[in-house]
Amino acid sequence: MKPDGRVGILISGRGSNMEAIVRAAEERRIPGVVAVVISNLPEAPGLKKAQEHGIETLALEPRSASKSENYDRRIVAALEERRVDLVCLAGYMRILTAVFLKAYGGRILNIHPSLLPAFPGLEVQRKALEYGVRYSGATVHFVDAEVDTGPIVLQAVVPVESDDTPATLAARILAEEHRIYPESVRLFLEGRLQIEGRRVRILPAPG
Ligand code: GRF
Repeated sequence: MKPDGRVGILISGRGSNMEAIVRAAEERRIPGVVAVVISNLPEAPGLKKAQEHGIETLALEPRSASKSENYDRRIVAALEERRVDLVCLAGYMRILTAVFLKAYGGRILNIHPSLLPAFPGLEVQRKALEYGVRYSGATVHFVDAEVDTGPIVLQAVVPVESDDTPATLAARILAEEHRIYPESVRLFLEGRLQIEGRRVRILPAPG
């Protein structure tokens, strides 16, 4: 039997997407285990949540907020030591350097709370409301050298209601994030995601 895929999750905050992936692994909805959860902020509430699930956690503090190859070397070393196959960014508020992409390129996923390429970056729900879009949603994508630009794996659409605030829209989107992130991890670990330029082909399930 093929060994379980080993997932490393990087967080900076609440960690609800991390927990959705952890639950999916616990319930065997994905053929993998979460090997480690790493935060750049020691106070990230997600670290405690991961520990409650019995998962190893690391808080690796960078010297500064700006991106750093030295810092990424530490992260990559920690991931490689734990034989991580797939890295999931889940509310991880740092930009990756070439060092990280060289080690794990094509094996890093991110989740973003909009229908990319609309509204990359921060304060996404406020921007969507101000723009007046009728629909928004969530995107899981592979990570490349730019921010929120990599090949798209899965997206989910939600309606924008006329009385939405950034918080109510975020909550509606978050429910979809918790569904499509574990699903994307499953497809990756089943070897069913093939990157072809900007497009990701989803191969049929074997059998
Ligand atoms: C999510 O909305 C995610 O899309 C964005 O940051 C938020 C993280 O939330 N990248 P959580 O830490 O997973 O609860």
